[in-house]
Amino acid sequence: MENMKLNNGYMIPEIGYGTWQSPDSEVTVNGVKAAIACGYRHIDTAAAYKNEESVGEGIKESGIARKDLFVTSKVWNTQRGYEKTIAAFEKTLSDLDLDYLDLYLIHWPASKKDYENWEEINLETWRAMTDLYKAGKIKAIGVSNFKPHHLEALMKTEVKPMVNQIEFHPGFMQEETVKYCRENGILVEAWSPLGTGRMLTNPDLQEIASHYGKSVAQICIRWCIQHDVLPLPKSVTPSRIEENSNVFDFEINAEDMQRIDALENFGGSGLDPDEVDF
Ligand SMILES: NC(=O)c1ccc[n+]([C@@H]2O[C@H](COP(=O)([O-])OP(=O)(O)OC[C@H]3O[C@@H](n4cnc5c(N)ncnc54)[C@H](OP(=O)(O)O)[C@@H]3O)[C@@H](O)[C@H]2O)c1
Repeated sequence: MENMKLNNGYMIPEIGYGTWQSPDSEVTVNGVKAAIACGYRHIDTAAAYKNEESVGEGIKESGIARKDLFVTSKVWNTQRGYEKTIAAFEKTLSDLDLDYLDLYLIHWPASKKDYENWEEINLETWRAMTDLYKAGKIKAIGVSNFKPHHLEALMKTEVKPMVNQIEFHPGFMQEETVKYCRENGILVEAWSPLGTGRMLTNPDLQEIASHYGKSVAQICIRWCIQHDVLPLPKSVTPSRIEENSNVFDFEINAEDMQRIDALENFGGSGLDPDEVDF
C-alpha cells in the first residue's frame, strides 16, 4: 500500500483498517494482528468504540515498529471543549498504550440543533487538538462528520484540519463536502466504504464486480481510492481483511466509475451531523 500526503506533509497509508463494532476482546486483537500481517499499516479506532485496549494490544503483538504504523483515534461528543478534550486524549493514549497518535479527530461536530454556541464549542475542542499537535503528541489533526458550515470556523484558525472522515460509499457521495475539502487541502476519508455491508448485495455493483473478477467489497474500496478518498474497511474475518487489501492489481474504467457514481442515493446510514441525537 502506498501513502498519501496530508497538508502538513505527514504521510498516511492509503487504506485504513476500521474497528467500529469490533469488540474489546481477542477478536479485535486478532483482527488488528491479521490486518498488519497482510500489509495494512493504518488503524482507525475511537474512544467511542470502546476497544482501544484491544487495538493497542494487537498493535503491540504485531511486532511491527510503532514508527511504521499510522494510528487514528477520535474524541467523543461528551468530551468536547478544551479541558475535556485534553483529558480524553490522554485516556485514549493510555488505553492504546502508545506515546503519540498519528491522527486525532473530532468525532462529530457540535450542532446548532443542540447548542446555541455550537461554533464556539467546536473551536474550543479544536484549540485543544491544536495544542496537542504543537506539543508533538499528535502528528496530524482533523475532524469527522463535518460539513462545510462546520468547517468554516476552523479554516480561520492557526492550524487547519488535515483530514475530514465522512460517510462515503457508492450511493452516498457527499459531493458538496468532498468539494469543499478538496478546495481547502483537507484529505477525505471514507467511513463505511461498504455501507456497513449494505453495498454487498447491490445488483449493479455485483454486475460490475463480476466484470473485473473482483468482489463488491473490492470494487467499493477501489472506487474510493480512484476518487482520492481514503477508505477504512472494517472486518474481523481474516479472509475478508486480506481481500479488502487486494485492490491494487486492477483499475475500474472511466465508464464503470461513472456508472457507480450515478447509482441512485441508497444504502446511507441516515446519520446527518446536524440531526443526530448523540
Ligand atoms: N467517523 C465516524 O463517525 C465513523 C462512523 C462509522 C464508521 N467509521 C469507521 O469506518 C470503518 C468502516 O465502517 P463500518 O464499520 O461501518 O463498515 P464497512 O467497512 O463499510 O463494512 C463492514 C461490514 O462488512 C463486512 N465485510 C467487510 N469486508 C467484507 C468482505 N470483503 N466481504 C463481505 N463482507 C465484508 C464486515 O463483516 P465482518 O467484520 O464480520 O467480517 C462488517 O459487517 C469503521 O470500522 C470505523 O473505523 C467511522
